[in-house]
Amino acid sequence: MSEELKQLIESNGLTYHIETFGCQMNVHESEKIAGVLENLGYKPSESKAAADLLLFNTCCVREHAEARLSGHIGALKDHKADKAYGVLAVCGCMMQQKDAAHKLMRRFPFVDMVFGTNSIHKLDSLLEDVLLRGQRAYCVEEDISIVEDIPVRRDGGPCAFVNIIYGCNNFCTYCIVPYVRGRERSRRADDIIDEIKRLCDEGVSEVTLLGQNVNSYGNDLVESISFPRLLRRIDAETNIRRIRFMTSHPKDMADELIACYGDLPSLCEHIHLPVQSGSDNVLRRMNRLYTRAHYLGLIDKLRARVPDIAITTDIIVGFPGETENDFEDTLSLVSEVQFDAAFTFAYSKRKLTKAADMPDQIDKAVKSERLARLNALVAELQRRSISAYRGRDVEVLTEGISERDANMVVGRTRTAKTVHFPGDASDIGRFINVHIDEVLTHTLRGKRL
Ligand code: 5AD
Ligand code: SF4
Repeated sequence: MSEELKQLIESNGLTYHIETFGCQMNVHESEKIAGVLENLGYKPSESKAAADLLLFNTCCVREHAEARLSGHIGALKDHKADKAYGVLAVCGCMMQQKDAAHKLMRRFPFVDMVFGTNSIHKLDSLLEDVLLRGQRAYCVEEDISIVEDIPVRRDGGPCAFVNIIYGCNNFCTYCIVPYVRGRERSRRADDIIDEIKRLCDEGVSEVTLLGQNVNSYGNDLVESISFPRLLRRIDAETNIRRIRFMTSHPKDMADELIACYGDLPSLCEHIHLPVQSGSDNVLRRMNRLYTRAHYLGLIDKLRARVPDIAITTDIIVGFPGETENDFEDTLSLVSEVQFDAAFTFAYSKRKLTKAADMPDQIDKAVKSERLARLNALVAELQRRSISAYRGRDVEVLTEGISERDANMVVGRTRTAKTVHFPGDASDIGRFINVHIDEVLTHTLRGKRL
């Protein structure tokens, strides 16, 4: 690491601010970027406007993200005017699309630095180019190696994200992720276990294992390991109290994974299992490689194993060619499964993907109308699932002080329900049993037992 760079950052008391868009993977990547920056001597800025280094970590899963990003960046033309060492940087998934990265650099000459998702470990040399040599820096790679030991600055209190697999091989026809994040690369199980052990030593009690499709974990490794076997190793070899994971693809969710529920004390009774559509026609054209019946079968098996399991999902409405009947199949599946919550999206056309060229693209108005109907149903189910907690005693891992009330703390149950109860900062990181006596729209309230 360059001493000259560190010296410049420290002696000028330089600060940074990161704006993160998109999914948990990006949130975690921002934590790594913050870790690298703080190792170099940067301190978090009190505000976006005051930050010497302002960085946008972008997402490209949905259309219009580019236009929105351009809006944000265009407004920052004068951001560096009062800063001797001001740096504007853009990174993340959108920059993995080289044409988007080049366009951005051409359009905004005051952007100093652009880098992709595989270049976080090169951040110091990119900053040297900008701060010591006065050059613009650009690094977008399709590099497929995994870089271990990037420092991480976590903000999650007792909860932490841990990557287990990068990239995706599935090519769902609507999705741009495989194009920007490349093929599947699994981390070595020992590296994952070591990281979780370290986190436990630092006071972390809950980890969320991250991957675009965690069920593919290990397929690309020489060592013989699968995702269920990784879960068993983490449960047996570390002291972590709670494990969650995101995301699991229904096409290859093995019975061995279902068997882990109820068997591994640390595995939380919650699964995020994106269904995307309830219509077999649409699922086929999405290249999801499972049927509605297969999905419902998985739900039955999960509930037979853990009756109280919380099930959440992702759903897309208005996929090309989706008929009113197809959409009603989605509504009926949602009612049948009784999801605890769902992230719902109107289909958004992404360049490069197969679905972008499919006939019968759906009108915006139809998509909006279907989304509204679906959201009303999801809200109703969410109310129903949360209401069932009234009067129950639950174990809450306290994550922080409530935003609305400084005399309350907030945490989550093993089933990922948010609970507020009276407490103070000394409760953060502790497991507390709470009696639920009030059900609000999205959250629960209770008293400690
Ligand atoms: N349009 C709408 N939603 C999408 N998703 C992914 N790609 C698209 C797209 N082109 C949704 C899927 C996925 C979630 C992360 O984002 O539901 O599970
Ligand atoms: Fe996209 Fe499908 Fe891969 Fe998920 S599994 S990242 S939806 S291609």
